[in-house]
Amino acid sequence: MIRAAELIERKRDGRELGAEELRELVLEYTADRVPEYQMAAFLMAVYFKGLSSAETFALTDAMVASGDTIDLGGAIGRRCVDKHSTGGVGDKTSIAVGPIVAACGVPFGKMSGRGLGHTGGTLDKLEAIPGYRIELTTEEFVEQVREVGLAIIGQSANLVPADKRLYALRDVTATVDNISLIAASIMSKKLAGGADAIVLDVKVGDGAFMKTLEDARALAQTMLELGEHAGRQVVCLLTDMDQPLGAAVGNSLEIAEARDTVRGEGPPDFTELVLDACARLLSRSDLGIDEDEGRRRAEAAVGDGSALAVYERWIRAQGGDPDPTALPEAPVVKEVHAPRAGSVVRLGAIAVGMAALHLGAGRRTKEDAIDHSVGVLCHVKRGASVAAGDVLAEVHAGDEASGEEAVAAVLAAYELGDEPPREHPILLDVVS
Ligand code: URA
Repeated sequence: MIRAAELIERKRDGRELGAEELRELVLEYTADRVPEYQMAAFLMAVYFKGLSSAETFALTDAMVASGDTIDLGGAIGRRCVDKHSTGGVGDKTSIAVGPIVAACGVPFGKMSGRGLGHTGGTLDKLEAIPGYRIELTTEEFVEQVREVGLAIIGQSANLVPADKRLYALRDVTATVDNISLIAASIMSKKLAGGADAIVLDVKVGDGAFMKTLEDARALAQTMLELGEHAGRQVVCLLTDMDQPLGAAVGNSLEIAEARDTVRGEGPPDFTELVLDACARLLSRSDLGIDEDEGRRRAEAAVGDGSALAVYERWIRAQGGDPDPTALPEAPVVKEVHAPRAGSVVRLGAIAVGMAALHLGAGRRTKEDAIDHSVGVLCHVKRGASVAAGDVLAEVHAGDEASGEEAVAAVLAAYELGDEPPREHPILLDVVS
């Protein structure tokens, strides 16, 4: 039997732990044989002293071993691809990437999580679609990826149970913000989920975990190493989260925007990120093509309507109604007007995310119910110029009072200045 106190002491003193020791600690904790207070102390020791690469590999392997794993590629007999984002405001990328990649003939199976706080989860967004079932059995999941080419479901209860426990504990012990712990948490779920090639979208900026490019690069490098260690192909896109992604923030609004993007009518920054992620996934699939050809095929699938057809087939296969008019609509819509002429020098991602959260689009606690109809549409983004009185954004609210509050909050998120208009690229760097 391990002595947890001894491991905590060694980590506290900055010494390295062995793979077996970490494995036992994680598995014993998951089996309720190491108490929360010792795991909390261990996490804090890791927070201050860090983990070596070998320790991070061992922690991730132990987390994967705590539950079930799926060999999606093996079950389907193809290379399967997946994408994951570290989380941001207005991030509905997977909902547009999945159908495009599947329309190009590459199977895409994804297990997603829910949102807490100012970033929404993919599952919450998909549940805005009337009838959409997020819970499929593993057999149904594999069958749908085989038949339709695409499935996005909730994580099964026994997929990396150690992460569920550890993440909840990190959340209440101020130990979320550690690169090894974040990398192990994300990659354990991706490795257990069974994809052969993974595009990781590491968000950088105001609305993201990683506030600087330097930290984002370090997280990307750690996740890349974890993927390679497990024999998977990983590419990390470092993308801007200083402002919301695309225009829509809020569940129904984001589904509508993802659908628009799948048929070639999405906002420019979101469209660019989606097509870039598709190109990288296609080039790492079993199609045997490079990224340029991947990009051409992704654009063709959008242009000829095949991506939209897959979107509709996918949503129906999971019990949902793909018609955008079926999405819940908020009863109150209000405009946010520019108080002066100028250019947008800042559009705070967190501020817009919090405005959407207060409207009811997200959860403050796990128990909160979500209003799928509400949210914000940021029609004008950073770098654009406006005239006084132009519509900057639209608030979709459940009632007048919450709508008024959100209008004030969204207006405060915009800073207008006198700089010349300029483009802000969505893709900041690539680590591969
Ligand atoms: N997302 C995760 O899944 N885990 C983390 O630790 C941080 C973001």
